[in-house]
Amino acid sequence: MSSISIIGLGNMASTLADQALAGGNTVEIIGRDPAKANELAATLDGATVGTAGTAPAGDIVILAVPYASAAEVVSEYGDALNGKIVVDITNPANSDLSGLVTPEGRSGAQEIAKAAPAGAHVVKAFNTLFANALSAAEGRSLDVFIAGDDAQAKAQVSVFAESLGLRPFDVGPLPMAGALENAGLLEMNLMNTLNHTNFALGITVLD
Ligand SMILES: NC(=O)c1ccc[n+]([C@@H]2O[C@H](COP(=O)([O-])OP(=O)(O)OC[C@H]3O[C@@H](n4cnc5c(N)ncnc54)[C@H](OP(=O)(O)O)[C@@H]3O)[C@@H](O)[C@H]2O)c1
Repeated sequence: MSSISIIGLGNMASTLADQALAGGNTVEIIGRDPAKANELAATLDGATVGTAGTAPAGDIVILAVPYASAAEVVSEYGDALNGKIVVDITNPANSDLSGLVTPEGRSGAQEIAKAAPAGAHVVKAFNTLFANALSAAEGRSLDVFIAGDDAQAKAQVSVFAESLGLRPFDVGPLPMAGALENAGLLEMNLMNTLNHTNFALGITVLD
């Protein structure tokens, strides 16, 4: 069992919260609007509501906010994130999906890590899984790719992912988040081609 805090109250926050609870984890949700956070919590079976800007209860803190807000949100929490695993799920795509808004040669996750306190471990994960696909998986084990510099943090995120019925793959250190962000961009373009989000990227292991 993992203890999870989720910052954000949108599609990914509600989907991950729901699945995390179903997987036997504790879940705290945190939003900038306490009334909206309470509203979302009321739809979830057993989630608690945290206070924005204060120390999250969870060991794993999922940043379920747009990339444009993510570093700012991390800065707002500051030292309250010390000792936490901060999971960046963002897709830093530009508005016409022709590229990423990140600085040349750097991932969004690395930019977010710059805003985090030294004692936090930033891990990129879940950005290649659409909320719809997570909800529609129904027992099929979707793949989740995990990048980060701290092996223990990645192992903890892997345990959490498995509790959601997902198959975790460690893809390397944090700069590999750039590859995952490009994979997210690929999926968003594919979404426009297919006209739905009922699919997920995965790997086929040939025995
Ligand atoms: N949707 C997907 O299928 C999917 C898949 C993979 C990754 N992602 C990534 O997951 C993240 C969330 O996506 P989403 O679809 O859940 O978005 P969403 O439904 O638009 O929800 C975004 C949430 O972020 C909150 N937020 C925005 N700025 C904030 C700030 N400065 N401080 C605190 N909260 C803030 C919003 O708060 P308010 O409610 O107060 O406005 C809202 O609850 C994005 O980075 C996206 O790229 C999404």
